[in-house]
Amino acid sequence: NDLLQIAIDGPASAGKSTVAKMVAHELGYIYCDTGAMYRAVTWAAIKRGIKLDDNLALEHMLSQIKISFAPSVKGQRVFVDQDEVTDDIRLPEIANNVSTVAAQLSVREALTKRQQEIAINGGIVMDGRDIGTTVLPDAQVKIFLVASVKERALRRFKENKAKGIKVNLETLEQEIAERDRKDSTRAVSPLVQAADAIKVDTTILSVEQVVAKIMKIIQKKA
Ligand code: C5P
Repeated sequence: NDLLQIAIDGPASAGKSTVAKMVAHELGYIYCDTGAMYRAVTWAAIKRGIKLDDNLALEHMLSQIKISFAPSVKGQRVFVDQDEVTDDIRLPEIANNVSTVAAQLSVREALTKRQQEIAINGGIVMDGRDIGTTVLPDAQVKIFLVASVKERALRRFKENKAKGIKVNLETLEQEIAERDRKDSTRAVSPLVQAADAIKVDTTILSVEQVVAKIMKIIQKKA
């Protein structure tokens, strides 16, 4: 029984991380959230006062900092050097700036390399924007998760509310649409469905239904 590479891509707040975590758990696989890496780089750049579209300055910063992950019962924890940034990288300030940082070639090259190293032995569910197209083009299973902007904004709204973060629904909808636009139109590894990815629309599905659908797709490939 081979250990598979499973790529789950899609736009912001389509439910990738929730679903990817559950699929990984069912299979006994590692889960890797590549968005968290881009968010951690953004956090570090803001903290150092680096211009977020300064490709060279970001490259230099990346050679000096260490981003690390620690699995825990509560989910993956994220560190930049000694600082834990797990919660901070979910703040709106990061969400609204991460696409600028993620469009820089030096950042994409460094993180893609890192992600390929993490996935090399398979047994991994990796979620992001360009996993099926660029990071793991040979992944045996590729899922492209989508949902309407309205539904995605509503999900993020409920999540934020539970965390005590107050953001208005229309604002969220605009921010999500703007992040989709930036991620889809950037020059390097834009958000696009891989030719061999299977699209799963989660707009009217529960989390359990989405996981069941994906598990079926995986069983067919295994
Ligand atoms: O998945 P998440 O919303 O945490 O991703 C944050 C941002 O990181 C995305 O909007 C995108 O700009 C960037 N990203 C990316 N490539 C990936 C994962 C995330 O460009 N593989």
